[in-house]
Amino acid sequence: MDKDGYVACLKEPDLAEGKMKAVRVKGKPILLAKVGGEVFGISNVCPHAGCSFQGGILSGYIVVCPCHGWKFDVRNGQYQETNLVTVPCYLCKVENGKIYVKIPKDQ
Ligand code: FES
Repeated sequence: MDKDGYVACLKEPDLAEGKMKAVRVKGKPILLAKVGGEVFGISNVCPHAGCSFQGGILSGYIVVCPCHGWKFDVRNGQYQETNLVTVPCYLCKVENGKIYVKIPKDQ
């Protein structure tokens, strides 16, 4: 972990444009998605019934949960049917060919 709380978790070329990858960072299941050359990270636990997202579909910025089709925006974790449900988001950065995810200090 660097001084800003970012943890390296994947080589950048291992996440292709328009694809998703499940990683664990400090024990947390996180879904990485690359859209428009940018990497986004959300919790990989669907708030509906706990499925992981990586078997689902990524369409633009929207990931569709493979279990029952709930849709979330990978930029902000927002459920698409109501703004009352979100999944936690994690800041990501790419440096020196690696993807880093920031885990807040209290997590
Ligand atoms: S567990 Fe994701 S939609 Fe049901």
